[in-house]
Amino acid sequence: MDLYEYQAKHLFDSHGVPVTAGEVCATPDAAHEAARKIGSAVVVKAQVKTGGRGKAGGVKLAATPDEAQARAQDILGLDIKGHVVRRVLVTEATDIAEEYYVSFLLDRANRAFLAMASVEGGVDIEEVAATRPEALALVRIDAIDGVDETLAASIVDRAGFPSHIREQVISVLVDLWQVLVKEDATLVEVNPLVLSADGRVLALDGKVTLDDNANYRHASHADLVDKDGTDPIELRAKEFDLNYVKLDGEVGIIGNGAGLVMSTLDVVAYAGEEFGGVRPANFLDIGGGASAEVMSNGLDIVLNDPDVRAVFVNVFGGITSCDAVANGIVQAVGALAERGTPVTKPIVCRIDGNNAVEGRRILNEFDHPLVEMVETMDDAARRVAQLAGGAA
Ligand SMILES: Nc1ncnc2c1ncn2[C@@H]1O[C@H](COP(=O)(O)OP(=O)(O)O)[C@@H](O)[C@H]1O
Ligand SMILES: [Mg+2]
Repeated sequence: MDLYEYQAKHLFDSHGVPVTAGEVCATPDAAHEAARKIGSAVVVKAQVKTGGRGKAGGVKLAATPDEAQARAQDILGLDIKGHVVRRVLVTEATDIAEEYYVSFLLDRANRAFLAMASVEGGVDIEEVAATRPEALALVRIDAIDGVDETLAASIVDRAGFPSHIREQVISVLVDLWQVLVKEDATLVEVNPLVLSADGRVLALDGKVTLDDNANYRHASHADLVDKDGTDPIELRAKEFDLNYVKLDGEVGIIGNGAGLVMSTLDVVAYAGEEFGGVRPANFLDIGGGASAEVMSNGLDIVLNDPDVRAVFVNVFGGITSCDAVANGIVQAVGALAERGTPVTKPIVCRIDGNNAVEGRRILNEFDHPLVEMVETMDDAARRVAQLAGGAA
């Protein structure tokens, strides 16, 4: 999970990385009040999970509370690279002398972590890396040893930070490493880390990616989930513990195993070309050992997506045999009817593999007018695309 800047800075602050005081606001009036409380010039910053907010007009200086209110009015509702601004961070304006870059990230390929640091921060670090790679220091971090003062000092020296702020930057790096470790993050990035005119080193921007696999260790991270920024169907799927991703087409997809589901998306998109460009509405992998209950939850999620016009259940029985899957479909259809939301959309099933004969027998016997079986994956994709495209 990626965090907003204001959330990242809360974590920074709680681990001793120096940040400016600020408050997140959803209205211009709240921005006025926050600026008044801060009592100095402020910067009003769009809170969206994408970089380059400054260039897109999402970061503005305001000398007075009235100005802060006006800038918040300008920025709230702005569309930055497809992200609509719902909140702004109102934070102390810093008189910047210099802008630097520092980050730690998981380096999967090398089974280690990586520190990146540059005294040419603020701007696009990708550009620095591409055009002047010598200006970006890369230092491998052993996952067990981590970052102590000695390693932090060598990062600082490799990047060429000026000697008068060496100790301050070392301390920021040691604390920032603690953010990564203690919060189970896979990325912590500060761009810019600045030297203020009065000689302080501060994190003015923050990007943090938390490792969702470690959520069970961090009860407090649940509060960081962005309920309005996440698709409501994805949120429900998460409650069911399903691997679901919303897409923008019309064919609901349920399969077992990520590889099978990925190829199902492809065959449906391909078959859909013939029926007016019908496309998959989602990715949903119910997993290799999925029970009848999981199938039932999956159908519930997919059928309740208003964009879905037909559903394709593509299962290759393995650990979970086809009869269990077929029973899951029968139970799910029954449960939905009981709940007062009977199935109204066609469901095309392709069932193969372990105990396929029994699975097909169960569905044949069920004999539901909206559930049909098709032998092969390609034919099933074509049929579901045809149904979603409006044909009966
Ligand atoms: N609190 C602040 N005080 C003064 N200038 C700021 C402050 N926050 C950001 N800036 C300036 O705005 C630029 C862009 O802000 P930043 O938070 O890095 O957003 P983004 O990376 O999304 O463009 C920074 O490089 C810095 O020059
Ligand atoms: Mg930035």
